[in-house]
Amino acid sequence: MAIILGIESSCDDTSAAICVDGKIRSNIIASQLVHQNYGGVIPELASRVHQQNIIPAVHQAISDAKIHKNEIDAVAFTRGPGLLGSLLVGTSFAKAFALARGLPLIEVNHMQAHILAHFIGEDKPSFPFLCLTVSGGHTQIVLVRDYFDMEIVGQTTDDAAGEAFDKTAKLLGLPYPGGPLIDKYAKQGNKHAYKFPEPQIQGLDFSFSGLKTSIMYFVRDRIKEDQDFLKNNLFDVCASVQERIISILLNKLKKASAQYNIHSIAIAGGVSANSGLRTALNESAADLNWKVYIPKFEYCTDNAAMIAIAGHYKFIKQDFVGQDIAPLARMQF
Ligand code: KG4
Ligand code: ZN
Repeated sequence: MAIILGIESSCDDTSAAICVDGKIRSNIIASQLVHQNYGGVIPELASRVHQQNIIPAVHQAISDAKIHKNEIDAVAFTRGPGLLGSLLVGTSFAKAFALARGLPLIEVNHMQAHILAHFIGEDKPSFPFLCLTVSGGHTQIVLVRDYFDMEIVGQTTDDAAGEAFDKTAKLLGLPYPGGPLIDKYAKQGNKHAYKFPEPQIQGLDFSFSGLKTSIMYFVRDRIKEDQDFLKNNLFDVCASVQERIISILLNKLKKASAQYNIHSIAIAGGVSANSGLRTALNESAADLNWKVYIPKFEYCTDNAAMIAIAGHYKFIKQDFVGQDIAPLARMQF
């Protein structure tokens, strides 16, 4: 039996979790509300708030898991990708904790961890499967052959899907992060009200910057005609934009499924919390005979449970790193 402490601090959530023999026993997430005042994450502020939050988050995770800190067998932490200052706080904490207690250290790639969040519950995917990983910084289709044998077969050439949601929200005058709000308003709107263009990108890659520009001109032109356009049509605009983002994602996923002849399909990352995407994926499952894996809401956005579960599988392989480890803002698979 192994007890892993997981630490996540790649962006603006400070999180600590305890995994006991492959089962998550606690998952504490301290979100940083300060960024809402600025319309986006301010890296310098994020690292300062991580410093304030990390020790209380770890204490709470240990206490909620009903274990004693002496029982912890290894410390897993997010090495990257992410904001360097934020990653430094989690990495330094993990190194200090491991050094003080003579424990092995486990580095975890944040994007791999989003995918490995599917191994937290009972309904674990079998290999190989395809995972659409959609977050604030990434949009990838990943061919997952084994826990740590993953290949990116498609990715965005510009903005990430989460950025498309957040930048659209900004254009519509909504606060950061806009993804969850667009999701909420879309439920009350008509998704066929407006038609935004689908980018013509070769292969399995994505592009969202053209969509952003078309929304910008659309809003500008409509407001010229009617000052209250957004006030009166906000729900329809949200529903239509969300519909287009979802169709861009699903069309590429369908293409990847056909190309690799893989019908086990997962989604992961913050945007996988989107209710329209979850519904559309379930509909595709019925049409295309897919077995789909949709994470629980609490494991979609950033959390340390996914870091702890990734740590669990690396602990089995005794895949440890030394105290000379440093964070990598642009860490690859
Ligand atoms: O994975 P995540 O928590 O952090 C990163 O690693 O980036 O993803 C955050 C992103 C943000 O862009 C946020 O707007 C988006 O996920 N997001 C959503 C929803 N919940 C979070 N986007 C659309 N619908 C949602 N319900
Ligand atoms: Zn993330």
